[in-house]
Amino acid sequence: MTRPPRIVVAYGSTFGDTADAAERIVTMLEEHTGARPWLMDIAHHEVRELDAFDVLVLGCSTWNVGEVQSDWAAKLNDLDALDLHGKRVGLFGSGDQLGYPDTYVDALGILAQRVEARGAELVGLWPIVGYEHQASLAQRACRFVGLALDDTSQGDRTPSRIEGWVTQLVEELDLWGPRGTEQLPTAAH
Ligand SMILES: Cc1cc2nc3c(=O)[nH]c(=O)nc-3n(C[C@H](O)[C@H](O)[C@H](O)COP(=O)(O)O)c2cc1C
Repeated sequence: MTRPPRIVVAYGSTFGDTADAAERIVTMLEEHTGARPWLMDIAHHEVRELDAFDVLVLGCSTWNVGEVQSDWAAKLNDLDALDLHGKRVGLFGSGDQLGYPDTYVDALGILAQRVEARGAELVGLWPIVGYEHQASLAQRACRFVGLALDDTSQGDRTPSRIEGWVTQLVEELDLWGPRGTEQLPTAAH
């Protein structure tokens, strides 16, 4: 019997927007899979601790116009030292598409590039439908490389976006737990 994958939700957040999303994601993953993932504020942990997990759900907001949030910025080089072959990575984070339309959630694009260079497989790509940004390092064709949130101008959509994304992750990773597929929420963008 194969064991269930070990999942961590690790985030960096300055004002708490991405931290709040991380907590919701952990709660929803627990509801769907029956197991509670680890929750890590990366400010208080070493990046090498991520090595113990099979699925890395990484949260990072974008700051200073197109840069990763400061707690992640301090640890990007450590990320480059990880071997992520065989690991699956989902990305999420908050940005501001109206205030920073040309660098909206760029941090997700920066992290995507880093983890893919280390061998990780990205999961949880998310459609750009419903967003008004102009450009983003996180955009590939018609999708973001992960869940793009905007608690400044579309905060009302955050709960349904998280719900839709977690459901998508559970499907992609085949993580349905004891509750099976009852009450499958529909994705909302
Ligand atoms: C000085 C400053 C620079 C910012 N730069 C960007 C940016 O380049 N792209 C973006 O999408 N959001 C940008 N933002 C918006 C933040 O990402 C947004 O407020 C986010 O919700 C913060 O999330 P956090 O509380 O998890 O750190 C910026 C905000 C400030 C105050």
